[in-house]
Amino acid sequence: MGTAAVRIAPSLLAADFGRLAEQLAAIEAGGADWLHVDVMDGVFVPNLTFGAKVIETCRRLTTLPLDVHLMVVEPEKYFESFAAAGATNLTIHLEAAPHVHRQLARIRELGCGAGVAVNPGTPVEHARDVAGDLDVLLVMTVNPGFGGQTFIASALDKVARARTMLDTIGSRAVLEVDGGISRDTIGRCWQAGADTFVAGVAVFTAKDPAEEVRSLRGRCGVHV
Ligand code: DX5
Ligand code: ZN
Repeated sequence: MGTAAVRIAPSLLAADFGRLAEQLAAIEAGGADWLHVDVMDGVFVPNLTFGAKVIETCRRLTTLPLDVHLMVVEPEKYFESFAAAGATNLTIHLEAAPHVHRQLARIRELGCGAGVAVNPGTPVEHARDVAGDLDVLLVMTVNPGFGGQTFIASALDKVARARTMLDTIGSRAVLEVDGGISRDTIGRCWQAGADTFVAGVAVFTAKDPAEEVRSLRGRCGVHV
């Protein structure tokens, strides 16, 4: 696998909303692949963020695919409006999706990529029976809810197991990690088999977000 498979997905959560257009232009200039959009409902996680209106605004401000991460209960309530607002991928949490197979099918029906996310306490093997239908498998490397948290190193083993599981099944899903990704942690995630990297604080608090995107990418690509 070469560096072409590396996707860097800066997280909107850490952006300066007063300078949103400028910041999105900066990450595009740095070669970001996706914009990650964290939707939180104050129920599934103890924090509130944004909905369709903000997704629509991002859709106007950038050509990057919008990788929407739903940290909400009953995510299916939002599929239609988020797809209409311009979401590219809709990723739902396995912990909030008792009918995950049906929910993923609905996401696909709406023309979006379908993703499943697993919290640090959830075995990734619980996604095995839908892995063949996935466009995105997201392994959380922090407990969801907030940006700027410390990377949970024990999640690396789960990333490696997820890689094996996807390869065994022949799934073409991207393997995404989210939380605490920085210059210090991204290389280990790449080595473990992740190919898509969400980074919030690391990118948007950097002096030069474009340069930070390039630097993160530069830490991936060599298997030792
Ligand atoms: C956490 C979110 C993350 C968050 C990552 O609940 O899912 O996407 O924005 O932020 P950093 O990269 O700052 O840990
Ligand atoms: Zn996220």
